[in-house]
Amino acid sequence: EATTDEGERESYVVATDNAYVPFEFLDEETGELVGFDIDLMTAIADEAGFDIEFEAMEFDGIVAGIGSGRFDIGIAGMTITEERKENIDFSQPYYEAGLIVAVQADNDEINSVDDLDGKTVATRTGSTSETYIRENTGGTPEAFPQITEAYQNVIQGRADAVIYDIPNVQYYASTEGGGQLKTIGEPLTGEEYGIAFPKGSELRDIADEALTTLMEDGTYADLYEKWFGE
Ligand code: ARG
Repeated sequence: EATTDEGERESYVVATDNAYVPFEFLDEETGELVGFDIDLMTAIADEAGFDIEFEAMEFDGIVAGIGSGRFDIGIAGMTITEERKENIDFSQPYYEAGLIVAVQADNDEINSVDDLDGKTVATRTGSTSETYIRENTGGTPEAFPQITEAYQNVIQGRADAVIYDIPNVQYYASTEGGGQLKTIGEPLTGEEYGIAFPKGSELRDIADEALTTLMEDGTYADLYEKWFGE
């Protein structure tokens, strides 16, 4: 909630996750919350002149908590969807992602999304992937509260495949999941990430304007380079 003591900067609670590499996760050494979303939201707050405090929770809780107005701002690699827009206002898109299939590195049976009919497909609870699996693959979604569990289930052979956001799959496959997971095929969807606000929040336009400035002044590009190396 905002504090409005005269002469003081307002302070807002930002709902986020702590296990969505490289957007928001806990630094292994310091235990601090770090990532692209964390840096971007901090830069937006600096630019717009307000203070923020991050509160980490499960992804499902962010969508619900913004919808009900419990939190002021949500940033969590959240895809802008028509369904969510019924309960949430979004900033302009700030990142282009998409969904992708990944399987065990030595799997030569599943070569595209068409091979998922009748298979068990792991993902994260409440994600756009869960809906995608149910509606488009003929496979059975198995949704976990933490995406790492979904990856581990595939690596250990308890699930046939995983579908999730490309940047997260790629980052995991090249770090923790090194050599054990491979992506297959083309991106299945386009996913535009937006910062979430309760319906009608005045903060949306304020944050959007700051975001535009950061996109124009090179700050966004620097953060992108830092986290995605391109
Ligand atoms: N982009 C997908 C969605 O909106 C997955 C986001 C997951 N983000 C997270 N912080 N766990 O459903």
